[in-house]
Amino acid sequence: MTQHLTAPAAAQADADATPRADWWRDAVIYQVYPRSFADGNGDGMGDLAGIRSRLPYLRDLGVDAVWLSPFYASPQADAGYDVADYRAIDPMFGTLLDADGLIRDAHALGLRIITDLVPNHSSDQHDWFKRALADGPASPLRARYHFRPGKGESGELPPNDWESVFGGPAWTRTTNPDGTPGDWYLHLFAPEQPDFNWENPAVADEFRSILRFWLDMGVDGFRIDVAHGLVKAEGLPDIGSHDQLKLLGNDVMPFFDQDGVHAIYRAWREILDEYPGERIGVAEAWTPTVERTANYVRPDELHQAFNFQYLGTHWDAEALREVIDTSLAAMRPVDAPATWVLSNHDVTRHATRFANPPGLGTQIRTAGDRELGLRRARAATLLMLALPGSAYVYQGEELGLPDVTDLADEVRQDPSFFRAAGQDGYRDGCRVPIPWTQNGPSYGFGAGGSWLPQPDSWAALSVEAQTGDPTSTLELYRSALAVRRSHPDLGAGTDVTWLPDTAPGVLAFSRGDRGDFVCTANTTAEPVRIKVPGRVLLTSEEVVLEEGELSLPADTTVWWSV
Ligand code: GLC
Repeated sequence: MTQHLTAPAAAQADADATPRADWWRDAVIYQVYPRSFADGNGDGMGDLAGIRSRLPYLRDLGVDAVWLSPFYASPQADAGYDVADYRAIDPMFGTLLDADGLIRDAHALGLRIITDLVPNHSSDQHDWFKRALADGPASPLRARYHFRPGKGESGELPPNDWESVFGGPAWTRTTNPDGTPGDWYLHLFAPEQPDFNWENPAVADEFRSILRFWLDMGVDGFRIDVAHGLVKAEGLPDIGSHDQLKLLGNDVMPFFDQDGVHAIYRAWREILDEYPGERIGVAEAWTPTVERTANYVRPDELHQAFNFQYLGTHWDAEALREVIDTSLAAMRPVDAPATWVLSNHDVTRHATRFANPPGLGTQIRTAGDRELGLRRARAATLLMLALPGSAYVYQGEELGLPDVTDLADEVRQDPSFFRAAGQDGYRDGCRVPIPWTQNGPSYGFGAGGSWLPQPDSWAALSVEAQTGDPTSTLELYRSALAVRRSHPDLGAGTDVTWLPDTAPGVLAFSRGDRGDFVCTANTTAEPVRIKVPGRVLLTSEEVVLEEGELSLPADTTVWWSV
């Protein structure tokens, strides 16, 4: 008998999931980029009111928590990652009352809220920095940042050879109140983002207070921006290489992943633990190895760290198996869950990464083969959601959105685009506002336009167009998250059991003590014949079963109940 099976075959969401103490160990966390999710007041820019109105969508999608990129008062030199006031909402996003309402509504729907905390640097419009500049070289406030005299005869050269992640020198020279050229200050990112000096006790005090402010507001955790950057090596030593940007991520640098950062997270963990309900900290820590990433999630530090090694792995069975094994092995000794992520607001969306040849990195400027990219993206998502630990979903990936690779230079806003030779530069392509409806201004994003233009082809990718279509990517995500919720073994534990005798290019593993869940993924361009291990739960593409065998199509993942 031949049986045709298409994508969503499965279970209903477990509506009243009971709150669990260790909810974060297998949580699926959805990243909302506030500028681009939903616009409540029709000004073309997303806001808290918009997010609030779409919370039921996220509940129905089946995620456990929502991480919000920064919504604090900010001049927006780096899309809100330049914070002028950590306890205020930028008027463009709403008010503290809106934030309070959003947190309450989310909780009523069973969703947790994680906010973004940016402790490595402030905005140059932060009160401390403005006063430090205005008060001149003798200002004690300068000790809260890294001010240094320049090198050269008249201090005309930067204090050391560090480069900004966004390109250009990591130092900017100040002008004294009397108009003469003054000291330089350090900024690992844009000049509008001066780095805090974490050796200064006022900085540490202030952030402990900010943590409490948001915990008192009811947030369930923090995503910690540039968590690996807070402490700089003593004396700010030169790197001595002109290839710093290439070194990033491969070597320990004097400004990244210094051992001193861990004392900060131990202090923060004590604060998190004072609050009920398991409030968590998630590190954005770019480190050379998953083993060094594990240092951030030791039992008395943070709870999770992003797995950027996984994000950077191409759609290739061997490479994926290796990164899965090393990630799980690195987390086991520290008893932290592994995490998995394919997309976020800083990298080219995975539907576009996988549409291009491997080896291009995570900032890609070509659309590639869209159909292939989407097919692989769907397969990659089913693979990711079958792994033990916590998974991150970036807004719009559930619609199969590609990166917008042809944005005109005039509309771009990414600060690194304007600072040539930076590591990033094309991050606007993954930040284009979400299409909710097939018609209407900005496809239902808001009543007005959208701050970055949406391609016409996005009408067909809208939530409205995909809802109820069993072949759509949105319904695939909904089904996958429903199966994950109802299946006790998915997400739990710390290991996978690789199945023997698997063809090259195919990943096959079982989960759970009884091995009653199996995931098979064909990463090759050709169909592969496999033995049917059980009953099909979900597939990323249509499959055809024949007498106990299956021709597993190219770039396809299948979930099985055994
Ligand atoms: C993090 C953010 C990124 C931002 C940078 C500086 O990497 O994810 O968007 O530009 O930090 O804050």
